[in-house]
Amino acid sequence: MILVTGGLGYIGSHTLVELLNAGYDVCVIDNLANTTIDVKDKIKKITGKDFKVYIGDILDEKLENQIFEENKIDAVIHFAGLKAVGESSVIPLEYYRNNVEGTLHLLEVMKKHDCKSIVFSSSATVYGSQEVQPLKEDAPLMDATNPYGRTKRFIEDILKDLYKSDNSWHIILLRYFNPIGAHESGLIGEKPNGIPNNLMPYITQTAIGAREYLNVFGSDYKTHDGTGVRDYIHVCDLAHGHLLALRKIEKDKERNIAKLDIYNLGTGNGYSVLDIVNTFMKVNNINVPYRIVDRRPGDIDCCYADATKAHNELGFKCEKNLADMCKDSWNFQKNIKDDGGQN
Ligand code: NAD
Ligand code: UFG
Repeated sequence: MILVTGGLGYIGSHTLVELLNAGYDVCVIDNLANTTIDVKDKIKKITGKDFKVYIGDILDEKLENQIFEENKIDAVIHFAGLKAVGESSVIPLEYYRNNVEGTLHLLEVMKKHDCKSIVFSSSATVYGSQEVQPLKEDAPLMDATNPYGRTKRFIEDILKDLYKSDNSWHIILLRYFNPIGAHESGLIGEKPNGIPNNLMPYITQTAIGAREYLNVFGSDYKTHDGTGVRDYIHVCDLAHGHLLALRKIEKDKERNIAKLDIYNLGTGNGYSVLDIVNTFMKVNNINVPYRIVDRRPGDIDCCYADATKAHNELGFKCEKNLADMCKDSWNFQKNIKDDGGQN
């Protein structure tokens, strides 16, 4: 049985689809801080399979012990966390408590129950601003520019120290680049609370008329058209990466090899803000009004992955291109709208 923390969230829900379709037994702990319980039914509808959801917090050790007592957990995929970069500077203590302390509780309970296999959601944010692109896993890490990024860096360090102290753990740190898109069914996707911080949800909300225009943050970056470049990856490709990471851990266990591995999950392609906007308008045949404004503080020029290591060691390969990402994001946005927000 695989325990998925934060499994009803954006990336967690798509990963559950991958795991259930691959025949895994799963259970979920989610406190619904950034999702709703109906996502469970959407996942059931897509996969035809049921699974147990514990509504609760990873800070609640009593509940976590109960989960480990009621289920034989072989490995944990750990998504649960707060993720809004801007908000993390306003309420840093909540971010450190939720993300860092929450992870400590989880690891203590895992250790107590002799479950020593974990896949952790890290982020390309740990690289900070780097001259050399594409980014490789062994690039020297720069200080994060915000508390959210620092929680990812701290948790990476905690997991590295844990492995050093006891090398019977199997730990995989997955550094995600920029996930966008949605499941092709249009049933699950990213539903941000309030005004979106991230580019793609802002584009889809502008296209549907909920926002007047998109603000393009800066046009004087050192990139091909002056707007910021990122490595956008379809959330289903990203989700598949977790299945591959789990399989790697299973193989290592069979061969008695304990390990801590780090993998970038990105496509290796860098696209600018205007590349995304123009592709979105073209493939969906819809206008997205935009205006160029000042840079957003803390943003970097360019960030994209060298994903060779994940390809060579996990067999990771992205199946979806930018057009698919734009189409699926739009399909999900239209579905929410058609459903009066109930979908
Ligand atoms: P999300 O907010 O959609 O999912 C996180 C889930 O965790 C939510 O369902 C939320 O309700 C739950 N949660 C939060 N705190 C919890 C707690 N204390 N106890 C139990 N459940 C809790 O976010 P996402 O985009 O799916 O991201 C998943 C993970 O990947 C996060 O750790 C995030 O930091 C990381 N990540 C995301 C991105 C991105 O751009 N989406 C990029 C890099 C890394
Ligand atoms: N952008 C705009 N207008 C917007 C929103 C974003 O022009 O309304 C631009 C940004 O300036 C940037 C690009 O679009 O150039 C992407 O911005 P996002 O906010 O979508 O993503 P970031 O790369 O800033 O950050 C994201 C996640 C972080 C994560 C990081 C690396 O939000 O949590 O990717 O994985 F750490």
